[in-house]
Amino acid sequence: MNKPEDKSPDTVWHRATVTRQRREQKNAHKSVVLWFTGLSGSGKSTLAHAVEEHLHQHGLNTFVLDGDNVRHGLCGDLGFSDQDRKENIRRISETAKLFLEAGVITLTAFISPFRAERAIARGLMPHGDFIEIHCFCPLTVCEQRDVKGLYKKARLGEIKNFTGISSPYEEPENPDLKIDTSRLTLEESVQQVIALLHTKNILSVPLH
Ligand code: ADX
Repeated sequence: MNKPEDKSPDTVWHRATVTRQRREQKNAHKSVVLWFTGLSGSGKSTLAHAVEEHLHQHGLNTFVLDGDNVRHGLCGDLGFSDQDRKENIRRISETAKLFLEAGVITLTAFISPFRAERAIARGLMPHGDFIEIHCFCPLTVCEQRDVKGLYKKARLGEIKNFTGISSPYEEPENPDLKIDTSRLTLEESVQQVIALLHTKNILSVPLH
């Protein structure tokens, strides 16, 4: 990911008095970034939203940054070349970092196909605040599901640079959690993520 040219060198960081720590105290839970990565159709958005629903029902502060949605606004000027995907992930990483500072449990659902960009995203956050969750699902299963009909179009050559077909997906080598969405139910997958949050002491009270 290229660091953008600094076009505003004459700016000075203003230190907030309402800090992340004070926000976390008020919320009675820590903030964290749960970074869901995987092929299109692997269940990232479904799982991220289901986890959010669960956390929200228990009164926690959450937000989902979702690939398809963000590409309607913040990243609406980007396509699917390698360069545009890198810029997409750069913007999302910076956005997730702001949400982290805001005390929010932030769930991101992007293919984020490149290891290097995911590593940069991890490096932006304080140690331990970036949790990588690989939504694993074999390409053949994603293609059978083809919820949006995009794999069919990609096979016909109507969509270029399609992840898994004509654009690479670099699987995480050491994710914090790998969930096989072709084998687990949605509820089982949600419980795995909640268990991980407990293990990492993100939640101050046990959720069931
Ligand atoms: S990323 O590679 O930059 O992380 P992102 O998650 O934002 O991708 O967007 C992926 C979504 O865009 C897919 O779920 C799919 O609905 C849609 N899409 C459209 N064209 C493509 C393409 N060429 N490759 C992958 N996804 C695409």
